[in-house]
Amino acid sequence: MSNPVLEAISNRRSIRAYKKEQITREQLDAILTSAREAPSARNKQPWHMTVVRNKSVVAEVNAEAKKILGLKHEDIFYDAPVVVFISAEKDWEWSKLDAGILVQTMALAAQSLGLGSVILGLPIGAFQGPREDYFNKLLKFPPNYEFAIAISIGLPDTAKDAHEMEPDKIKYVD
Ligand SMILES: Cc1cc2nc3c(=O)[nH]c(=O)nc-3n(C[C@H](O)[C@H](O)[C@H](O)COP(=O)(O)O)c2cc1C
Repeated sequence: MSNPVLEAISNRRSIRAYKKEQITREQLDAILTSAREAPSARNKQPWHMTVVRNKSVVAEVNAEAKKILGLKHEDIFYDAPVVVFISAEKDWEWSKLDAGILVQTMALAAQSLGLGSVILGLPIGAFQGPREDYFNKLLKFPPNYEFAIAISIGLPDTAKDAHEMEPDKIKYVD
């Protein structure tokens, strides 16, 4: 079977190289609106999105995350023109799951617009060290919110094969 939604799901890849140009305001708004349409437990919408197009802010988070995690990557954000940091309410059991649904909704919306994206867990390093409060403020996380996940978005400058699907991930009880 095929339809535009199934095609977007099937064609999405984690994109790790981007063209220099910025995505349009319309594309960004469409992705952010789609995200806000995502479901959440008890409809609490326990998420917040910080859109960062300032390269020096992204570079600061990159440097700190790599330092704390001891990584050798060049750039954990892959020099994308826009990075969205998703923070989520602390002390609510479904926050991280809801943030995951939100970020995948953004990845699929980006894909549907011909854009690439990669979901990023590694930035968490910046929020695990002694400068956690500084980075929470820099990224304007609301009070009582913490880093959940990030996503780099831009025009893809690379192609990638689909990942292999591991076997034995489905059982039926009929
Ligand atoms: C929660 C989560 C965290 C991830 N963190 C990173 C990351 O920090 N850096 C990265 O390059 N890819 C990251 N990825 C992307 C995965 O590596 C990627 O989804 C996986 O290899 C499958 O490839 P595909 O997305 O192209 O199908 C993350 C994906 C998820 C869902």
